[in-house]
Amino acid sequence: MQPDYNNFLTGVITPPTTMGTDLSATGSTQRTGPHAHGGCIAPDLSAIVEQSEDAIVSSSLDGTILSWNRGAVKVYGYTPEEVLGQSVAMLFPPDRLDELEQLLGELRQGRAVVQPHSERIRKDGLLIQVSVSLSPLKDNSGQLIGVSAICRDISGLVRTTLEIETINAELHRLSGQLLRLQDEERRRIARELHDGPVQEIAALQLTLDSLCGLQELRASTEAVRLLHRSAKLASECSRGLRTLSYLLHPPMLDELGLATALQMFVDGFVQRTGIQVRLQLPDGLGRLGPDVELALFRIAQESLANAYRHSESKEVEIRAHLEPERLVMEVEDRGKGMKIPDPSDMEGVRLGVGIPGMQERARQLGGEFEIQSERGRTTVRVRLPLCR
Ligand SMILES: Nc1ncnc2c1ncn2[C@@H]1O[C@H](COP(=O)(O)OP(=O)(O)OP(=O)(O)O)[C@@H](O)[C@H]1O
Ligand SMILES: [Mg+2]
Repeated sequence: MQPDYNNFLTGVITPPTTMGTDLSATGSTQRTGPHAHGGCIAPDLSAIVEQSEDAIVSSSLDGTILSWNRGAVKVYGYTPEEVLGQSVAMLFPPDRLDELEQLLGELRQGRAVVQPHSERIRKDGLLIQVSVSLSPLKDNSGQLIGVSAICRDISGLVRTTLEIETINAELHRLSGQLLRLQDEERRRIARELHDGPVQEIAALQLTLDSLCGLQELRASTEAVRLLHRSAKLASECSRGLRTLSYLLHPPMLDELGLATALQMFVDGFVQRTGIQVRLQLPDGLGRLGPDVELALFRIAQESLANAYRHSESKEVEIRAHLEPERLVMEVEDRGKGMKIPDPSDMEGVRLGVGIPGMQERARQLGGEFEIQSERGRTTVRVRLPLCR
């Protein structure tokens, strides 16, 4: 059976003096009183409306306010006496009056409207952010007789959301700055290592080699043995420093681009770890811009490091392909897989710097980053826009 909305329309016009918590005393609603259903007491509809914290307002189809609950007094600041018989237009900011016409138009067609976010004006002139649900009201014969609006003040929520968005934007700006500073610092240390200690050790090696060849020293086998040992240590030290300098920032990346730098890096990685790496880049990839190349290089570097440290995989594939306006790179291992952290349940999840760092690099360049993982396979995928 259709509910009798006539009761609803007229019943919740409640003078402030009768507003209270006594459910049986709410206004002039023509009520049947609390209904007994299988032994439970069910409060009637008008009492629920009256007690609601949300503004619940009914109007005629032309927008004349017919009922105004306690929540409406709280949200808008007007008493029922001040609004009953007035147009709902008084609640709309002037630049939203067109919106009111549109809403009434929809409702007159019998269509409900939900506005997740809109604005209204309070009695004190304050603009409030609201979420509104509007429904056409029909009588028993199905005839449209008015409109009901349930309106929640979400100003606090909107303010908090804006504050969070501002903080997030600032965080992203700072982490971008941090990444850039880190890259610059790595580049500087790599250059200083290469130009300083690496060159000096090369000179030391030459000196030691010359010493090893000196006729005068040949008589002492101990001296020759020590010299050879020193030359070997100098050579190992030189190799270690060159690798460190290269890992900090491969000069090839700036000079020859991603394909060459990545190939050299992969060769060194295979030698150091024994993991087999297949590198498949598009033919004639060309230069992609320093920021994109550095981001892709760092993401490949971190993904390989993760595969080595965590996956137990003996093989990794790095592949990339071009799509219109963007490049997609995937690094896939055949290891034990990983649990992808669920942002809503981070308990017990070990957070490293590597994955958030890769994510942030992609974000800073307007790209996307994702990890897919299952037992036997982990794929790191990054999509970066190209502006070549
Ligand atoms: N390829 C992978 N296979 C299995 N587990 C992985 C893989 N990559 C990452 N993980 C898991 O995800 C965790 C987080 O990785 P992340 O790179 O963020 O940090 P990390 O490698 O532990 O430390 P770091 O800050 O030095 O990178 C790792 O500790 C590991 O448990
Ligand atoms: Mg890592």
